[in-house]
Amino acid sequence: MTKRIRKAVFPVAGLGTRFLPATKAIPKEMLTIVDRPVVQHVVDEARAAGIEHFVFVTGRNKAVIEDHFDMAYELDDTLAKRSKTKELDGLRADLPAAGATSFTRQQAPLGLGHAVWCARDIVGDEPFALLLPDMLHHTHGKGCLAEMIDAYNKHGGNHVAVAPVPEDQTHQYGIVGVENVDAKVSKINKMVEKPPKGTAPSNLHITGRYILQPTIFNLLAHQEKGAGGEIQLTDSMIALSRQEPFHAVRFDGDIYDTGSKIGFLTANIAYALDRGDLGPQLRAEIERLIEG
Ligand code: G1P
Repeated sequence: MTKRIRKAVFPVAGLGTRFLPATKAIPKEMLTIVDRPVVQHVVDEARAAGIEHFVFVTGRNKAVIEDHFDMAYELDDTLAKRSKTKELDGLRADLPAAGATSFTRQQAPLGLGHAVWCARDIVGDEPFALLLPDMLHHTHGKGCLAEMIDAYNKHGGNHVAVAPVPEDQTHQYGIVGVENVDAKVSKINKMVEKPPKGTAPSNLHITGRYILQPTIFNLLAHQEKGAGGEIQLTDSMIALSRQEPFHAVRFDGDIYDTGSKIGFLTANIAYALDRGDLGPQLRAEIERLIEG
């Protein structure tokens, strides 16, 4: 019997230097994909997977993320008085239940592993989900985390979502080797963070969705700095994989790295094209622009 995954961690402390000057005063996670902040899309994915408690690891200048997931009383009141029912219902549907969010701060930018470790007391002694908000997982099927929870309920242990990347990009990611490359869920037999060019065990990269056992926190507590001089989550996952089973779940949808300008722009187009109220008109506009 596996323990239920109730909590999800969202590391949102990053500075967003790739997106300056837009991110000088606005956290990168609050930039919008169509009309929802990036971080809201990722919280939507977690909610769709049944997550009940949302843990944000923030940093300085990120207070607006906390405001976003709180009720805006004056706004609600004004919308109600103006009979803007649709807008009000939308805000209410997005609002997490009272007490279902937690915020803690990563005091210094020491790496993803350190950010996750900062959530240890809030998560406690239970397996949890981890979602990197930069990476949007777009699908018309079940969400990526929901698929991973299905795999977890069957196999237990630890899971990462993976997807192929071009060989010349493997050095930018965590890469896994698996027992069966074609399987939807496969045992991982190798993991490496940002392998030097030509040394990757496969072209399957870790896409930014994880289900981890709480044992990871003890390993992170003693983790030495790795690639880029940062405390790397992958390095502690390698240690964990020596003690507990680790599976890769292949994600077949589209992944957008919204921390990159191209990823961000493409995600906006992809998500808008999907919308009944915007898609047809946007398609016509894009065609007009391309045809010149
Ligand atoms: C992090 C992880 C890496 C993963 C990537 C996905 O790297 O360390 O394993 O593949 O996210 O975006 P970062 O993007 O923080 O360098």
